[in-house]
Amino acid sequence: MTKPLRKAVLPVAGLGTRFLPATKAMAKEMLPVVDKPLIQYAVEEARAAGIQQFCLITGRGKTAIVEHFDIAYELEATLRMRHKEAELRMLREAQLPPGAMVTVRQQEPMGLGHAIWCARAFVGDDPFAILLPDDLVLSETPCTQQLAEAYYQTGGCVVAVTEVPRDQTNRYGILDIGADDGRLVEVKGLVEKPKPEDAPSNLSIIGRYVLRPEVMQYLGMLERGAGGEVQLTDAMAKLIGQVPFHGLRYEGRRFDCGDKIGFLEAQIAFALKRPEMAAQVHAFLKNYV
Ligand code: G1P
Repeated sequence: MTKPLRKAVLPVAGLGTRFLPATKAMAKEMLPVVDKPLIQYAVEEARAAGIQQFCLITGRGKTAIVEHFDIAYELEATLRMRHKEAELRMLREAQLPPGAMVTVRQQEPMGLGHAIWCARAFVGDDPFAILLPDDLVLSETPCTQQLAEAYYQTGGCVVAVTEVPRDQTNRYGILDIGADDGRLVEVKGLVEKPKPEDAPSNLSIIGRYVLRPEVMQYLGMLERGAGGEVQLTDAMAKLIGQVPFHGLRYEGRRFDCGDKIGFLEAQIAFALKRPEMAAQVHAFLKNYV
């Protein structure tokens, strides 16, 4: 039986060095796209896919993220007194039911795989989603929901994938692919950040995964991979052949918001999707191009 997908792990311990100086004293996951922090996009996307329990893997200097999902009593009382209904509604959208979010500290920056392994007690024997909040996806159907639907179809592990230029394979986890129906791709192998000449394809993983709990056993070996870090990709590769493993060419556009250019592009793309500001943004953009 395919267990329902109810849990998500969101690693937010990264230092955000690509975004200095903005991230010197502020968590990169709190950077807003239009008016909403990256972490809120990720949580909303997960909730739309039926996720009910969240585990944030945090580190030093990340307390603002936890505050963001708490009730802000004084602020709400003031808004209520001033009859600011729309603003109150916005705050409520960011709020989670009691007990829905836990945090675990990753004490040392040992890589994404190590961060995910820190959530092993939370995950237990259940399937779980991973969302890397830096990767923001603009799509008709939320990306995690697309993955969840594929998971209910295949029952195994599913990762969101997209084609990248050959010269960029060294930035991503890359698939070695088997059967391919144009949407779902059978995963035969996975390599973390291969040089273009060593890459088995140019199909890359973006920061959205649905994984089976067995991956924790392999993460627990704490073997170091690319960049001397414990890599999630290496542990996932060990599951191939044991459980169904697919890549999903998701519908939508992904923005790398850990990167300054990707972040700027996301601002524009998301602003143009907002009915109340699209026309104005469109008009001022003409002044620059
Ligand atoms: C991580 C993963 C990589 C994946 C990427 C997607 O890399 O290790 O496999 O392709 O996220 O954003 P990072 O961006 O943390 O270097």
